[in-house]
Amino acid sequence: MNIYLIGFMGTGKTTVGKALALKLNKKFSDLDDLIVEKTGKQIVEIFREDGEEEFRKIETEVLKDINEKDNFVVATGGGVLTTEGNYEIMKSNGVIITLAASPEAIYERLRNDETRPLLMVDNVIDEIKRLMFERAPLYIKADYIVDTTERPIDEIVNEIVEYL
Ligand code: S3P
Repeated sequence: MNIYLIGFMGTGKTTVGKALALKLNKKFSDLDDLIVEKTGKQIVEIFREDGEEEFRKIETEVLKDINEKDNFVVATGGGVLTTEGNYEIMKSNGVIITLAASPEAIYERLRNDETRPLLMVDNVIDEIKRLMFERAPLYIKADYIVDTTERPIDEIVNEIVEYL
């Protein structure tokens, strides 16, 4: 079994995932990192040169690979559930946990970030709200949802461990 962390960009999937893996004595993996390793390209380059559709294909490939393994805490990319079938892949060998945060908190965390191609727009806060609203039906499919807005990492990790 694996533990899949899903949720919007900037909700803390990587940070919480690493701490959770340490606490549970599991391995940690980040889908975006696996994509960078597999393609030899940064995420922004893949979006720019190959397009989002190609990125989603590679995302599903690395998800399938990690799903064949066990004992991983996996930080997914914020759009992993926009691809049909990815929910079923994760459920077949794992628990799915959504990390949630307010649009304002996400904006503060990502306002100077240049690694998120989907947020390279003029009005970032509006785009965060729009995308979050659009994806809400996907994020609520998780087995458990934990709020990460203005909370220390260990408190978030403890809440997830209690749920598990
Ligand atoms: C995306 C989120 C990113 C990355 C890509 C697309 C999304 O991952 O996979 O830029 O569609 O929300 P993070 O959630 O780790 O930022």
